[in-house]
Amino acid sequence: MTPPDPRPSAPPALLPLYDVPPSFAGLYEEIADCPRCVLARERTRTVPGSGAAPCDLMFVGEGPGQREDELGLPFVGRSGQFLDELLGTIGRSRRDVYVTNVVKCRPPGNRDPQPDEIAACADHLDRQIAGVQPRVIATLGRFSMARWFPGERISQIHGRARTFDGLTVIPMYHPAAALRDGSLRAVMKQDFAQIPDLLTGTTGA
Ligand code: URA
Repeated sequence: MTPPDPRPSAPPALLPLYDVPPSFAGLYEEIADCPRCVLARERTRTVPGSGAAPCDLMFVGEGPGQREDELGLPFVGRSGQFLDELLGTIGRSRRDVYVTNVVKCRPPGNRDPQPDEIAACADHLDRQIAGVQPRVIATLGRFSMARWFPGERISQIHGRARTFDGLTVIPMYHPAAALRDGSLRAVMKQDFAQIPDLLTGTTGA
C-alpha cells in the first residue's frame, strides 16, 4: 500500500526541501520505484536527496534514518539539525547545497548499509553528482568516504581535501558521531571552515 503523503504535515521549514530540481524529476521517480536491493522491502519512502542542482557544494551521508524514511528527505533528524548548524557557520543553508546519501532507502534498525546495497545504489549517486556538478563534495561518515578514499581511516584523513579530476572531496566525520562524542563538534566546525576556500579554489587540495 502506498504510504500517505507526509508533505502537508511536514514542518513548514522543511517544505521547500521537497522542491525537486527539474533535471532530477525522472531520476527521483526511478529511485521511488527502485527494486535493486533488499532495502526496497522495508522502506516507507525513498530518500533521493534535497537541495539545489546544479550547485557548487554537495554532501553525501550514509543512509536515511527513521525520520528521513517517514518524510522522504535526507538529514531531518538530530544529525540534520547539527548539519544545519554547521552549514550556518559557512553562511550556507539547505536550499543552496545538495544533500544525499550513499543509499536512498533506510537500512532497517539503522544498521550500516551493506556493500551490495551501496553498489546497487551507486549509479543513482553517479547520476546525482553528474547533475549537481559540484566543485566540492563533503563526505559525511565512512561509507561515503570509502568511495573516494578506500581503505583509509576517517580519524586520520578527516578535513584533508583531495582533488579527483577537478572535483575536490573533503572527508568529514558524520554529524551523528559528533552527537555521540561532543569533542568532535569543534573538529567538524574546523573541517567545515575549510569549505569556503575550497569552493573558491583559494586552498589547493
Ligand atoms: N544519517 C545519514 O547518513 N543520512 C541521513 O539522511 C540521516 C542520517
